[in-house]
Amino acid sequence: EVAVLDYGSQYSQLIVRRVRELGFVSHLYPPAELPNLKNPGAIILSGGPRSTSDVDAPDVDFDKLMSFGVPVLGVCYGMQLLNIKHGGTVKPGVTREYGPAKLVVTDHADLFKGISHESQVWMSHSDTCANLASTTQVIATNEDAVPVALKWTDRCWGIQFHPEVTHSHEGTGILKNFLAQCGDTLAKFDIIEFKDQMIARIKAEVGSREVICGVSGGVDSTVLAVLLARAGVKVRCIFIDTGLMRLNESAEVKELFAEVGVPIEQIDASTTFLGALKGVTDPEQKRRIIGTLFVDEFWKVADNVELLAQGTLYPDVIESATSGSIASKIKTHHNRVDRIMELKEQGKVLEPLAELFKDEVRALGASLGIPHRALWRHPFPGPGLAVRIPGEITPERILSTQQADAIFIGELRRSGWYEQVWQAYAALLPVKTVGVKGDERSYEQAISLRAVISEDAMTADWVELPYSVLRNASNKILNSVKGVNRVLYDISTKPPASIEWE
Ligand code: XMP
Repeated sequence: EVAVLDYGSQYSQLIVRRVRELGFVSHLYPPAELPNLKNPGAIILSGGPRSTSDVDAPDVDFDKLMSFGVPVLGVCYGMQLLNIKHGGTVKPGVTREYGPAKLVVTDHADLFKGISHESQVWMSHSDTCANLASTTQVIATNEDAVPVALKWTDRCWGIQFHPEVTHSHEGTGILKNFLAQCGDTLAKFDIIEFKDQMIARIKAEVGSREVICGVSGGVDSTVLAVLLARAGVKVRCIFIDTGLMRLNESAEVKELFAEVGVPIEQIDASTTFLGALKGVTDPEQKRRIIGTLFVDEFWKVADNVELLAQGTLYPDVIESATSGSIASKIKTHHNRVDRIMELKEQGKVLEPLAELFKDEVRALGASLGIPHRALWRHPFPGPGLAVRIPGEITPERILSTQQADAIFIGELRRSGWYEQVWQAYAALLPVKTVGVKGDERSYEQAISLRAVISEDAMTADWVELPYSVLRNASNKILNSVKGVNRVLYDISTKPPASIEWE
């Protein structure tokens, strides 16, 4: 396997995923796990937000690292750490270099074999390597001739940029070249084997305990429920209708589970959720209320449950990092609220998908025999329409959002665009503007349509939908959705915007 040591970068798991995409088995480990690695085929040290000069900067057991005798690559922080270990120094940066930069290759022998002489790479660092040990070879620089890729030995390299993000245009090629240094010693990644290992891990972790699993009909929870069912553990799948679902969603979910042959229990808790959200406008408070009620509802149906299974994916984990971890917090994801963190500490939360990205979950789902239609449903957030209705959530505002959303999604399906976008939806904005309806002045709300493409939800771009699709959706919404007199199309990228409106 390719062991990736996690120094806390937002991109660490992305390195693992790229290695898997290149066809090899890979796992992420805390740096302290280095001595326990069993025959790694290659080791990558990730980037991280810390400075090597910090008193408690995460370190590496260099003798142990070298004792494996396998190819080693340091990325960003990992490179700086390795430079120090080889006898060089690192200088604290005054400003942070963040964004695209030019890579100028000066040695095409190994890491940059077949890579363009000049290409774009993605930087995200403030410290830089200052003095290099005399044996260090500079194999690439930036535009200003500052070294950004080093070779210390025939088995050890460092790169200042992030090859794992798509903004590094030839990053995958560079990782591939690094892995080629291992010859054919690396274990091959295979989705069927991966699925079998996952099922075996779940069986071992769950044992004879009963698992409760919330299902929403979304890709993640469906794959999770089917995985649990196939693992043969004792499981109860609960669908809680929060009242914040899309139009006709309950019935559709029921049908889907009947089709995959997994029994589910449906509970209508909409009155409870909408009651608790009454008058609440703060997005984080909405998330906390929904997250807490979810667990309350679960416990109502399954008192003394021994394990709660969640379809948390890697981007949820990294974006909700708690203050104790090295990555910084962006926002509270609904499945990370305090109540669930408490359960987690008691070892009562099972998150088998936590190291995967969406597309990996879809591949896993396909290997489990889940129908295409279910796997290619757009992601729908746990807090449901609550993150698409900024301002107060009322039954009337939910209905307007549901109707507009159904019209927009219907147009996308009809025009063949549904599967070409990662996620699309209608949000209802808390602004009223003046319009004219039937010769009378109207003073109503606005619907914002959003359609984005993304690889992993960490970044996203808006989709250039044909005007005809937008026009049809807009006409239908304006003609049939009560309380709406304006339709907008959201042309914001993530970052700086997020995918959802909250
Ligand atoms: P943002 O708005 O953070 O969304 O750019 C990124 C992706 O995550 C989904 N999302 C969530 N999914 N629980 C979930 O299960 C949540 O609390 C949550 N918040 C956002 C969102 O729909 C998008 O696909």
